[in-house]
Amino acid sequence: MKFGYFDDERKEYVITSPRTPLPWINYLGCESFFSLVSNTCGGYSFYKDAKLLRLTRYRYNNVPFDSNGHYYYIKDGDTIWNPGWMPCKTELDSYLCRHGLGYSTFESSKNGLAATLTAFVPLGAACEINKLSMTNETSSVKSIDLFSYVEFCLWNAMDDMTNYQRNFNIAEVEVHGSEIYHKTEYRERRNHYAVFAVNDAVSGFDTDRDAFLGPYGENSAPKAVCSGESGNSTAHGWAPVGSHHLKLKLEPGEKKELIFILGYVENEQNQKWSGLNEINRAPALAMLNRFNSVEKADFALKELSSHWETLLSRFTLHSTEDKLDRMVNVWHQYQCMVTFNMSRSASYFESGIGRGMGFRDSCQDLLGFVHLIPDRAKERILDIAATQFQNGGAYHQYQPLTKRGNAEVGNGFNDDPLWLIAAAAAYIKETGDFSLLDEQVPYDNNMDVATDFMEHLRRSFHYTLDHLGPHALPLIGRADWNDCLNLNCFSKEPGESFQTYGPSKGPVAESIFIAGMFVRYGKEYVHLCKHKGLTEEAALAENAITDMEKAVIDYGWDGEWFLRAYDAHGQKVGSNECEEGKIYIEPQGFCAMAEIGKEQGLCHKSLDAVKQYLDTKYGIVLLQPCYTKYHLELGEITSYPGGYKENAGIFCHNNPWVSIAETVIGRGNRAWQVYTRTCPAYLEEISEIHRTEPYVYSQMIAGKDAPTFGESKNSWLTGTAAWTFVNVSQFILGIRPDYHGLIIDPCIPPTLQAFQVDRIFRNIHYHIQVHNPDGVEKGIIQLMVDGKVISENTIPYDPSMVGKTVNITAVMG
Ligand code: GLC
Ligand code: GLC
Repeated sequence: MKFGYFDDERKEYVITSPRTPLPWINYLGCESFFSLVSNTCGGYSFYKDAKLLRLTRYRYNNVPFDSNGHYYYIKDGDTIWNPGWMPCKTELDSYLCRHGLGYSTFESSKNGLAATLTAFVPLGAACEINKLSMTNETSSVKSIDLFSYVEFCLWNAMDDMTNYQRNFNIAEVEVHGSEIYHKTEYRERRNHYAVFAVNDAVSGFDTDRDAFLGPYGENSAPKAVCSGESGNSTAHGWAPVGSHHLKLKLEPGEKKELIFILGYVENEQNQKWSGLNEINRAPALAMLNRFNSVEKADFALKELSSHWETLLSRFTLHSTEDKLDRMVNVWHQYQCMVTFNMSRSASYFESGIGRGMGFRDSCQDLLGFVHLIPDRAKERILDIAATQFQNGGAYHQYQPLTKRGNAEVGNGFNDDPLWLIAAAAAYIKETGDFSLLDEQVPYDNNMDVATDFMEHLRRSFHYTLDHLGPHALPLIGRADWNDCLNLNCFSKEPGESFQTYGPSKGPVAESIFIAGMFVRYGKEYVHLCKHKGLTEEAALAENAITDMEKAVIDYGWDGEWFLRAYDAHGQKVGSNECEEGKIYIEPQGFCAMAEIGKEQGLCHKSLDAVKQYLDTKYGIVLLQPCYTKYHLELGEITSYPGGYKENAGIFCHNNPWVSIAETVIGRGNRAWQVYTRTCPAYLEEISEIHRTEPYVYSQMIAGKDAPTFGESKNSWLTGTAAWTFVNVSQFILGIRPDYHGLIIDPCIPPTLQAFQVDRIFRNIHYHIQVHNPDGVEKGIIQLMVDGKVISENTIPYDPSMVGKTVNITAVMG
């Protein structure tokens, strides 16, 4: 069953019922100010950091679900309704929610009044704009009362929901006409406030939540709205809100448009005040002045859409598959932007207060984003590297605002350092900018010990070599990619964090997954060493990689597939010898991508085993058989009921690894099957089972052992976004950046007879046509560049073509 449809022309997903199985959300903002907005207008805003600078309040896990947001109430006679249906839930005569690129539009009507609400965050400003249009479609005059409503958060979202003995005393606001200012803590250590304004005269306002809602009131029936009168309240402590009241008279056919702006403003320390306890509003007024008319707001929205047009023009596909085209051209890339911006911080499943930016997560997110805005990717790589330790290890997470490593979670996740090599290689391949390697970058934010970035990579690579176990395989530490395989944890008490409890270091627990990473990204490191003329180091690294391959083949092969790990007792994990958890997906994907044992047929065998033991109609599960008991020696992975999360869920993130690995051995059909099974657009028809948004990936789909097989959770913020885009663009369609040019190497199902890609790569426009007359899965028999046949499948970068178009024709066969 569907709850909407894709509007490919407008690059939107259009939701046709507010009663989606779960809130289906969108992200507004792509620079510093962000809002989450659901299909019923739920959500919240923050500036840069969802934990430390939250503007509006949201209550996770609330009842009813998703019942706080930026709301507009329309009181038309006795009927009170909202353009996004919530929170009044008044039955609407019509309803649509269009989630587009950086904006969401709600189109609804009730009793002959049509409302259109468009929410977006403009480029280059720290605010959200809400344009609300109302049209009287009846033949008589309508007098309506309109109320806006946001609930302010006292900035630190964690403190805001825990520290009431203080927080009920500190709220402060200032009201000037139609501008409501939230200035809690501005008198003391903060230099920022929020403003919520409308571009028209108001007949009343509220800033005190209890005054607006009434004693024991609810946002589904606020006292002010029901009575048609604002309280003109000033918040002193308790819960500050912003609500405007406008009385509007609409003649038959008349349309009225209003611009509401919610903004974040900072002042210099010596310019905080304009009078006694009166904030300096000048920068706020300047911001409001930029957008406070319909023309100005419309212009800002146009700018935003051309920004997206430009970004997406860097990779466009025309094929015979609608669903593939819409994913590649819009939704994959869009989700990559969001995961790049958010890492795992703020979604409807990630509360914004837990994790900041993840070291491994952000490095991977970058893989799918780097082609969009390479400069921002570079900046991010340097930020991440600056949280690395001198021994090459890394803080597992850091806070986006402070860019400091998070000491509570600490380090010791032994895959982390290698992801930095992956990110750096991707950036250099995209841009050709080797100067990244020469940047001076601190360790643990200490500039005194800074080295060039190349040295960071050296330490990343050697971190693995400095942490080898008894089989000469990498020690796992607290965990590798799988945060829940905690082989050195041994937690017995409820509540202990599996990720931080226990010694973190064990003498023997080893990861075959990290071995696969080491081989794959080690090869990139070798390339970079050679580029820098570091021949000795390159030779050393090549030998280390060969040794690692040997160790995997000797000790990491189980007969039919790659082992997952050795535990702290030296016992095998992910082996046929195990009772549960005999086979895991991660080492199959990664070791095959790294081509370990390819000649001996190990890659084929391991991928066949994946198909045989881990496949389901909704994707590949993480392991089989699922764990039914808690295993002290394995940790969190065995804490989940079977079929959920890392315990045999379909953890979407590693499905593309298998798909990529299939392209490495040339099986285009199978790569395609793996790709489409978890691909949102291909799941749209089963939205009642899948339940999360049909336009973006979720972290997990319940596996076949789960009672809710096929149901997904944790949408939006997942490494799946980057990896699936890398998979489909670089390996299935096969348009792959390399250090010295662009590789054309498709691996497709024979049903895809031809396709065309336009790719902007290092400021050259490549217009690429691929023909597959014989319906093969892989292999190019002829490649023509501007009419000339070339013998390799890499189109060398030619700087004289910058700003021009290169025409490529590739014939498969
Ligand atoms: C989560 C984490 C990611 C980890 C994965 C598997 O998505 O953000 O870092 O690799 O789970 O445990
Ligand atoms: C939990 C989740 C895992 C995530 C981790 C982050 O263990 O199951 O997916 O990566 O938390 O700390």
